[in-house]
Amino acid sequence: MTDVRPARIGVVTVSDRASQGVYEDRGGPAIREYLAEILTSPFEAISRIIADEQRLIESTLKDLCDTEGCCLVITTGGTGPALRDVTPEATEVVCQKMMPGFGELMRQVSLQKVPTAILSRQTAGIRGRSLIVNLPGQPKAIRECLDAVFPAIPYCIDLIEGPYLTTDETKIKAFRPKK
Ligand code: MTE
Repeated sequence: MTDVRPARIGVVTVSDRASQGVYEDRGGPAIREYLAEILTSPFEAISRIIADEQRLIESTLKDLCDTEGCCLVITTGGTGPALRDVTPEATEVVCQKMMPGFGELMRQVSLQKVPTAILSRQTAGIRGRSLIVNLPGQPKAIRECLDAVFPAIPYCIDLIEGPYLTTDETKIKAFRPKK
């Protein structure tokens, strides 16, 4: 039951400096590379690089979910305590349901790597038929966090009536409790 159309996946880098070209975006490419490595079903990444402005983050998430039809939107950056960090707030505003288990698990595994993992307020939620997941801005945090939560993502997308995602089981084993 594999969908022939590629699943659309939003990749959003939230960073004042990357959006101004002060430094190169490393988070967006790291997320796209990760997806290409683990997904065996076809997908298409729709990428955005935006400043840490709550309204802009909200409108970007809405556009990716509602207009671009992304079943999954992964953000990187803006999850910490700094004054300009507002990605979780924007995510909460646009989601109808929060999925707090994602942030809990990502912080738990990240704590094995860095004590500052508790500084990330990363969360996840559902907007319509889209799952939005926040990751910290550190490029190395991307794999650490996605390895932890990805086994549950394909089934979550099944439950919100999205495309059937399959993974390379040698890398990530998607868990689907019901056949
Ligand atoms: N999680 C992982 N796995 N690896 C990391 O290096 N960095 C932490 C934390 N979570 C980190 C991590 C740090 S230093 C901060 S400040 C917070 O994420 C928030 O980062 P952000 O504001 O770039 O989203």
